[in-house]
Amino acid sequence: MENERKKVMLSGIKPSGDLTLGSYLGPLHHWPEMIEEYDCYYFMADLHAITVRQNPADLRRRTLEQLAQYIACGLDPEKCTLFIQSHVHQHAELGWVLNCYAMFGELSRMTQFKDKSAKNADNINGGLFTYPSLMAADILLYQPDFVPVGEDQKQHVELARNIVQRFNGVYGEVFRMPEPYIPKVGARIMSLTNPAAKMSKSDNGDTGRVTLMDDPSVIMKQFKRAITDSDTERCVRYDKENKPGVANLMTIYSSATGKSFDEIEKEFDGQGYGKFKPAVGEAVVEMLRPIQEEAKRIMADKAYLEGVYRAGAEKAEYIASKTLRKVYKKVGFLPR
Ligand code: TRP
Repeated sequence: MENERKKVMLSGIKPSGDLTLGSYLGPLHHWPEMIEEYDCYYFMADLHAITVRQNPADLRRRTLEQLAQYIACGLDPEKCTLFIQSHVHQHAELGWVLNCYAMFGELSRMTQFKDKSAKNADNINGGLFTYPSLMAADILLYQPDFVPVGEDQKQHVELARNIVQRFNGVYGEVFRMPEPYIPKVGARIMSLTNPAAKMSKSDNGDTGRVTLMDDPSVIMKQFKRAITDSDTERCVRYDKENKPGVANLMTIYSSATGKSFDEIEKEFDGQGYGKFKPAVGEAVVEMLRPIQEEAKRIMADKAYLEGVYRAGAEKAEYIASKTLRKVYKKVGFLPR
């Protein structure tokens, strides 16, 4: 008699910077396969974006571009729910409630908070600190089974799990326990100029990144000046420990072409980096070309995009409001 419930998956990306090759080869690349199997919710986390100061016009533009780029990458809005976080007011509301169930000590231990407060010493605001409670709300509103995130967000999902345990412990089974979902094949793409750091979408002016919409000439330039390594053998060999720059380029090339590391080593055997770096650039240009064309076409159709995000918000709100109603009742708020 069990009703067959499709498993639910949810994830978000902050529109705080342009999507990069790292966003694409990491999480985004895998999302389209998931919409076939799961009931998926993907959103632009604009509420989260303002924990760091944003230029309002840029934030608006990026939010819309990100939506167009999601669709261009294969997230068919007919098959999954795409929405903008601030359009579904239940996120902010549940975020507040969960703030009262997240402990100061827990929030203080979040490595992202520590990193970001070091980077934004002049703007260590309350939102930066309580960011994980809002993220827990994003997740728990939809009762998902899985939350696909990068390594750097795992700690936040763990915190959401602690909140579930605490909350359900007091009020009964209100929230489903979510699992972080780290794709096995998901590549972690590092900066092209600093292979010790993740390729970031927020660090403007970072010379080590390639965005999804960069011109082919820019992409080629970035790859030509990518850091390789300073050893004398100068050969294309996968050694993450000693040759992190080369390993990063090989990961990108492998993801773009489907070739294995072995095949790549053979292909560039005895050729040094002079041939390899532009080859990676060209492979990336070719991989991104159809996505860029599609994203531009969609971006030009504002009416279509509006239709997508309105319908998405409506679908999301239907589910989110059910959860929030239950929470309000459980904690003892008098119904209006
Ligand atoms: N914090 C995530 C990031 O910085 C974005 C995010 C916000 C998110 N809410 C979420 C991811 C909920 C997964 C689920 O990348």
